[in-house]
Amino acid sequence: MKNIFPLSVILLLIFVSCDQTASLKVQVQKSGLVVDSAMVVSAHPLASEIGAKILKQGGNAVDAAIAVQFALAVVYPVAGNIGGGGFMVIRESYGKTATLDFREKAPAGSDRDMYLDENQEVIENLSLRGHLAPGVPGSVAGMAEAYEKFGTLPWEKLLDPAIDLAEKGFQLTAREAGALNGNQEAFRKYNTIVPEFVMNEKGWQEGDIIKYKDLAATLKLIKAKGKDGFYKGITAKNIVEEMKRGNGIISLEDLENYQATWRNPLMGQYKGYRIITMPPPSSGGVALLQLLKSIEPYAIGELGYGTAASIHLMTEAERRVYADRATHLGDPDFWDVPVDQLIDAAYNAERMADFHPDSATLSADISAGQAALAESTETTHFSIVDKYGNAVAVTTTLNGGFGSKVFVAGSGFLLNNEMDDFSIKPGVPNYYGLIGGEANAIAPGKRMLSSMTPTIVEKDGKLLMLVGTPGGSTIITSVFQTILNVIEYGMNMEQAVNAKRVHHQWKPDTLFVETNAVDSLTMLTLKSMGHQISDRGRIGRVDAILMRKDNRLEAGADERGDDTAAGF
Ligand code: DON
Repeated sequence: MKNIFPLSVILLLIFVSCDQTASLKVQVQKSGLVVDSAMVVSAHPLASEIGAKILKQGGNAVDAAIAVQFALAVVYPVAGNIGGGGFMVIRESYGKTATLDFREKAPAGSDRDMYLDENQEVIENLSLRGHLAPGVPGSVAGMAEAYEKFGTLPWEKLLDPAIDLAEKGFQLTAREAGALNGNQEAFRKYNTIVPEFVMNEKGWQEGDIIKYKDLAATLKLIKAKGKDGFYKGITAKNIVEEMKRGNGIISLEDLENYQATWRNPLMGQYKGYRIITMPPPSSGGVALLQLLKSIEPYAIGELGYGTAASIHLMTEAERRVYADRATHLGDPDFWDVPVDQLIDAAYNAERMADFHPDSATLSADISAGQAALAESTETTHFSIVDKYGNAVAVTTTLNGGFGSKVFVAGSGFLLNNEMDDFSIKPGVPNYYGLIGGEANAIAPGKRMLSSMTPTIVEKDGKLLMLVGTPGGSTIITSVFQTILNVIEYGMNMEQAVNAKRVHHQWKPDTLFVETNAVDSLTMLTLKSMGHQISDRGRIGRVDAILMRKDNRLEAGADERGDDTAAGF
């Protein structure tokens, strides 16, 4: 065949394509990665690598976040999703901020007592497993909305890597193989059509290749049609048919009406650091700022990391803040949340007025503060900084591991079980032991309260840190401790993320400590102060990025999971 290009052009093409491959090389590292320009830290090495490649191609942090979100839906289905929801916190290089709410919503056919029997008792597992557990998914609308406002690369380019992985398959990590094996029975029990692609009689092994053909087809629809590829047409029809087969209630109208919402970022100060975080319907940002305000007057840095005195101080702040959460926090579109009052320094000082440095207050003696309106096991987090200096922190979830366990037949993705984050009956704890009342009662179209706390920290007007984690109720306290580890205890990012954690949430009146988090003497001291202590294997799985003093980016990829950093 006659070659239509002169030799010089061919050489140039070869040069360009080689150069492109070379320039797409990114460093991928489980822990301690430090890079000059740009970085992604996520729960899965493949997702982090995809995000970093998008950054290398000139995409910004939002472009990368979109690619990572879709990639996680394939490689990390335990929490990554298109059938769930989440929150995005954005800080542009020159300090402008935005927060995007793509939290699920209660379907129009829901009602506040839908999980109670005729005696008003909670029907076990109904809000957690199967077809009544999902809220209307928000993730795809969220990604489309973020793209519309901030995207720069072609949308198709952000979907292609996820489509490739779903279609051609990828190797399972040991942890993922274990998670799939542990859910075989649930997948069989809660699906109307057995999802053969995740079933494996011999048991999945590390290194096995898994493919998600139906999911690839769904992602192609989203690639071609954007939001409409999910909320209309074949995907919407498959969701509604799935609902009908399993007595679920999400309708075509619910899907068509779903919209992601830009919210005013929640801002606070802690000792000269500026905290940019998620407002309601997440409780995370409000609670984080309350915790920081509550401890600010006490020199926690001097008390030392992991000492009885510092753990006691945090615990006492936590039990008060979580009591407020149970009463005052809910979807702001449905409930007037007294945000300004709750994060006010004087209010939190007043809440801490009966704090005693030597003894625990019983949670039974604590109730929510009188905050009036100032007249007015899965989730995943990823942190991204691009070479232009923009920062994006995203926490996204199906709620529990593999959500409701229900795959949408024909479309190959899991639906969330986020309805359990509502207070399904006043005073009855949800899966994470959190209680609530009127503020977080179910109502059609309402968003269930969340604890997700994607957060960005600034110092002197410059980006300092991005942080977030899964962990249900422990999200807030894990983010809190990670920030303190850096600001108060001088840890680097990796140390701050891997340091052991503790947690208290008012009720139950228990101080949870990670295995080996405290030595026996500290344990004894805490018990003598009156704390009831319980061992908890792991708390949180934080993925964070720190801008070091030398302006290089340092990753904190939590060693508790497969979490990995990638960058250049
Ligand atoms: O939005 C929330 O607060 C919960 N659905 C988060 C669940 C979670 O973090 C599970 N991870 N371990």
